[in-house]
Amino acid sequence: MADTEKKIAWIIGGGSGIGAASARLLADRGWKVAISGRRREKLDEVAAGRDIHPFPLDVTDADAVADVVAQISRTLGRIDLTIFGAAAWQPSEPGDYAFDKFQKVVDTNLLGVVRLANPLFEQYEKQGGGELAVISSVAGYVGLPRAAAYNATKSSLISLTESMHAEMAPRNINVRVVAPGFFKSELTEKNDFPMPFLLETEDAARRMVDGLTNSKSFEIAFPKRMAFILKFMRMLPYPLFFAITSRMMPKDN
Ligand SMILES: NC(=O)c1ccc[n+]([C@@H]2O[C@H](COP(=O)([O-])OP(=O)(O)OC[C@H]3O[C@@H](n4cnc5c(N)ncnc54)[C@H](OP(=O)(O)O)[C@@H]3O)[C@@H](O)[C@H]2O)c1
Repeated sequence: MADTEKKIAWIIGGGSGIGAASARLLADRGWKVAISGRRREKLDEVAAGRDIHPFPLDVTDADAVADVVAQISRTLGRIDLTIFGAAAWQPSEPGDYAFDKFQKVVDTNLLGVVRLANPLFEQYEKQGGGELAVISSVAGYVGLPRAAAYNATKSSLISLTESMHAEMAPRNINVRVVAPGFFKSELTEKNDFPMPFLLETEDAARRMVDGLTNSKSFEIAFPKRMAFILKFMRMLPYPLFFAITSRMMPKDN
């Protein structure tokens, strides 16, 4: 493929985890990839030896987000696919709704996408269209103990992308949601609880990239068993639902 024909992907959260593995996979499949995150050294490691280009960014800084959209568009020519995967996560103690901790999670996971939306969609309109995939989680299907802030942001992202999908389609902008189950990453290293159906990072990246490039589905959820279990829980009557989630509480509470 000639260099000028390469499709351009931008992965926010591309310095580690599923973002880094997806950047490498897309580059190996002939895409030109921009990656963003706060740690420059992680971005440089991922970019080494491939057609991957670091654009350091903190998604809690609205001006910086708009600047990086402009920089990538100018330097690489356009953006065909943006994957938003930046996230903050820390298991919380039951009953701890400390504002500062909650705000940090919302500011990154949810408001990061909101800061991105207008500058990115303006660029997409200029270039005649584009695609935004937001990484939510199967955790967004239900509210579980010890993850109040994180799950609240992930369910909000499902709702936000549903609204965006309908609103942006007439402008040739395709907004999609990715809902992974557990996979190995810096984020899940912090977990001190069992993680059913845990995937290798590269496997999770391959499932996400295949879903985004080979299917037209609005939602890319995997592994199927994990997505099914949590979607099924969503449909249970609340007494049964809470009978299950109360068993997830730490034993000493
Ligand atoms: N691992 C799982 O089991 C799992 C399951 C479902 C969904 N997910 C979702 O998958 C996505 C990727 O997570 P991961 O598991 O691959 O973990 P990860 O390696 O920790 O990836 C998160 C990325 O977000 C970046 N980031 C965090 N805060 C940021 C900020 N303010 N501005 C810019 N970038 C920021 C981090 O880079 P810097 O620290 O350098 O900024 C990091 O590269 C997240 O949305 C996560 O919620 C993960």
